[in-house]
Amino acid sequence: MEQKPVTILDLQAKKREGVPITMLTAYDYPTALAVDRAGIDVILVGDSLAMVVLGYENTLPVTMEEMLHHCRAVRRGAEHALLVGDMPFLSYQASVEQAVLNAGRFLKEGGMAAVKLEGGREVAPQIKAIVAAGIPVMGHLGLTPQSIHQLGGYRVQGKSTAAAERLMEDAQILEEAGCFSIVLEAIPVEVAERISKSLSIPTIGIGAGLGCDGQVLVLHDLLGMFDRFTPKFVKKYADLFTEMTKAIEAYRDDVLTRRFPGAEHSYSYPVGEKAAVKEK
Ligand code: KIV
Repeated sequence: MEQKPVTILDLQAKKREGVPITMLTAYDYPTALAVDRAGIDVILVGDSLAMVVLGYENTLPVTMEEMLHHCRAVRRGAEHALLVGDMPFLSYQASVEQAVLNAGRFLKEGGMAAVKLEGGREVAPQIKAIVAAGIPVMGHLGLTPQSIHQLGGYRVQGKSTAAAERLMEDAQILEEAGCFSIVLEAIPVEVAERISKSLSIPTIGIGAGLGCDGQVLVLHDLLGMFDRFTPKFVKKYADLFTEMTKAIEAYRDDVLTRRFPGAEHSYSYPVGEKAAVKEK
């Protein structure tokens, strides 16, 4: 049965009805196909691709061109999920004009339906201008990996009363600026729940507990495809890196021992044609 593409209105309806929103990252055609066919509501082409796909140390080096290249592949694989493109470091911080132009590229050239960007009150002018251009924006508060050097590492945020209050205020400011949803990353469950209850837009948690309106994980963490480090909030549903390595080793052994290719993987001429080839 053909399913209608998910829209930001569907996500808002889910929040009203108390139905959890499902979100995952995807970075290419096959992962988009799998995530989409599994019926996930939102696919984020996350800048986490810098680390889990491109092998960079953190998310800072990934460029607009690299993000758009992966967005196009995801677009070709997904028919149902709402597609959100993650704005990379320095594509929106420097000026409102640059933010609008780069956000627009995610829709025009990347085939996305929305963008996500990190930060609180300091990026409210950018969010207002992008939304005014007709582009839906998802916010991202708490642990914001593009500010890794300022935060001093990948640490839980909002642990003091003052920090929690500031997060609450930032969430309100992002809602007022026009965000359709906000990712809450690595913050105490009590703080995430308070924020979620205080907003009319849905929150999507990653390391923020069950009180959020939805959940997101990095696909490669869930599948066990990235083992440089695994945050406490990750639940590994598979160990595909080990499976992949085993399959590759089995192939290598088959080639070395001439067990591959077998007759069933090889072509041979039908008898009549063999004769024809000989006669020539
Ligand atoms: O880049 C990413 O994958 C993200 C998620 C962790 C929300 O921002």
